[in-house]
Amino acid sequence: MSEVTIYEVGPRDGLQNEKGVIATEVKVEFIQRLLAAGLPIVEATSFVHPKWVPQLADAAEVMAALGDAGRDLPVLVPNERGLDRALELGVRHIAVFGSATETFAQKNLNRSLDEQFAMFEPTVARARAAGIDVRAYVSMCFGDPWEGAVPVDQVVGVGKRLFDLGASELSLGDTIGVGTAGQVKDLIAAFTDAGMQLDDLAMHFHDTYGQALANAYSALQAGVTTFDASAGGLGGCPYAKSATGNLATEDLVWMLRGLGIETGVDLDAVVTTSVWMAEHLGRPSPSAVVRALAQSDS
Ligand code: HMG
Ligand code: MG
Repeated sequence: MSEVTIYEVGPRDGLQNEKGVIATEVKVEFIQRLLAAGLPIVEATSFVHPKWVPQLADAAEVMAALGDAGRDLPVLVPNERGLDRALELGVRHIAVFGSATETFAQKNLNRSLDEQFAMFEPTVARARAAGIDVRAYVSMCFGDPWEGAVPVDQVVGVGKRLFDLGASELSLGDTIGVGTAGQVKDLIAAFTDAGMQLDDLAMHFHDTYGQALANAYSALQAGVTTFDASAGGLGGCPYAKSATGNLATEDLVWMLRGLGIETGVDLDAVVTTSVWMAEHLGRPSPSAVVRALAQSDS
């Protein structure tokens, strides 16, 4: 393997979980700096209900400020109302997000496991008819804070059903970061046994238990080549008890660089961006690579 695609989620998964309100212009500069650092895909924001995620209530302002560049960036959309809002701004890539468990479907989407599909089905169909590319996330793939272990068959069933609505990619989320490398290998094998192509899978790790990089390595060895990551390791999910930051983009790039795998990302530029963002957030980045490289610069 010689190339990996990094799908940057810091401005969305990272900032959705911040206690304080980040100014719109800081969010816009964050996205622009990540793009300038060579990240090929930056998920910009969310068109969810603003009361559910007030941190991203300025989604329309962020997209308007990004102008043409913004239209190529994916945004989270849960339902037709979210799609309408995104369409008004000329968005060309959306991501829907389902849950592998009943409890998280209720807590995150106010729907049962089955009802979530009734919400996604018309959303994805209308998006596809409008020529919009759709990514699908499935959350709680490795464990759920309320339900504990999640059966692999249940994850594969939900994931396939979401993908088959018409998605171009399925991102498997370890929302609370409890997964380990062996489970990652087994889950990917279960998806390929069920007919999914490795090229259609992405992995989305959170680092709650410090396993995100080991899990990414395990998935890489299994043949997955798209990884979600967040600059500086920002992140979490406001509706998932105990979820902390995503796999840090810098940790991933550092490992891949050591393996001779190309990402097109300027590591120093991402580190500088994360240090700048940490100043706005008022706390240092949890990423060991950010800390080490920022230290060596000073
Ligand atoms: P609901 O309350 O059931 O909504 O919420 P509803 O369909 O009953 O509608 C109620 C009202 O909300 C209506 O207004 C709608 O128009 C309005 P009214 O007619 O009463 O005046 N409404 C909206 N307004 C603006 N934008 C919208 C929208 N939708 C409805 N999109 C809903 C259901 C899905 C909207 C809500 O549960 C929600 O917004 N949830 C989002 C939660 C969220 O964003 N979580 C974080 C992202 S997921 C994540 O982080 C995991 C991930 O990273 C992967 C991983 O780590 O596993 C992706
Ligand atoms: Mg996440």
